[in-house]
Amino acid sequence: MRIFSGIQPTGRKHLGNYIGAIRQYVEGQDRGDPAIYCIVDLHATTVAYEPAELRRNLYDTTAILLAAGLDPGRCVLFRQSDVPEQTELTWLLSSVTAHGDLNRMHQFKDKSARQKDLVSAGLFFYPVLMAADVLAYRADEVPVGDDQRQHVELMREIARRFNERFGETLVVPDHKIPEVGARIMDLQDPSRKMSTSVPGDAGRVLVLDDEKATRKKLGSAVTDSGREVKRGEGKEGVANLIGIYAVATGKAEDEVEAEFEGAGYGDFKKALADAVVEYLKPVRERYPEIREDEAGLERILAEGAAKARALASETLADVREAMGVGVPRS
Ligand code: AMP
Ligand code: TRP
Repeated sequence: MRIFSGIQPTGRKHLGNYIGAIRQYVEGQDRGDPAIYCIVDLHATTVAYEPAELRRNLYDTTAILLAAGLDPGRCVLFRQSDVPEQTELTWLLSSVTAHGDLNRMHQFKDKSARQKDLVSAGLFFYPVLMAADVLAYRADEVPVGDDQRQHVELMREIARRFNERFGETLVVPDHKIPEVGARIMDLQDPSRKMSTSVPGDAGRVLVLDDEKATRKKLGSAVTDSGREVKRGEGKEGVANLIGIYAVATGKAEDEVEAEFEGAGYGDFKKALADAVVEYLKPVRERYPEIREDEAGLERILAEGAAKARALASETLADVREAMGVGVPRS
């Protein structure tokens, strides 16, 4: 079973990323044959950005993944731009991608509405590059948070259309979205997802936040005027916190509700803060040493890229042959 996922080098990874995606990457290492994880710097160029900051953020994100438990001996960890096969495949797949499908992508609509100067063609094409990321490795499983559901649906459609048009060549991947924690909501506004792009910092706990900041943000998370620690209509804020607590402690959500029956929000939030601080502590503690060694990070990424290219170039040779482009095989 091949596992593949990608993560943007934004450097400010939050609890949503950790719970929705990163913990699944770590878990996938022993199931994946191989498990392949890509830091998608090319995707990050589709919105306004600073080149020097992109480089720093790439190291930050790489170090967070390693601190979270990715082990280059048990997975393939690399930088997207180091594997040109993925970019080439993006173009080749564009011939079986419907313009109308790209027009329907929620993430494009949301992100393009937020751009001040330029809505780049790259932003529109983002889902094709993402499809190429996965299809280049013939991955079976794609661990992601709920917000990537539509993008995975599209890559399935692209793979199916390719196979129909040019013959069985690509694997149609499945998403793997966690049952609890697939969509962690903003702590200040539980109607929207926790995200790096929301202004202000109070709505998200960052993986690297210190204990004090973590406690403060969770302590001031929006709840409701009721008093019961239960999920339900009008209780989106509390439900979100129940989900976070469940994941951080390894309990089921029902158990969490039972545990806090009769307790108030104050007690619950205190226990929640303790649990999240403990949950993220190993990552925070390991991070500085890993981040400091940029040469070491480059070495890990280079080894990952070599393994990734070996896999992707096989797929690309088949795709080129099937499409009739380039030098014929025999
Ligand atoms: P990104 O930082 O946008 O590359 O996202 C990395 C991963 O985190 C993707 O698999 C997303 O689906 C996941 N993710 C992002 N935000 C959330 C959230 N609020 N809750 C759960 N998963 C999320
Ligand atoms: N679009 C994904 C996100 O914003 C990141 C990503 C890029 C990805 N390529 C991927 C995720 C391939 C899974 C598979 O989170």
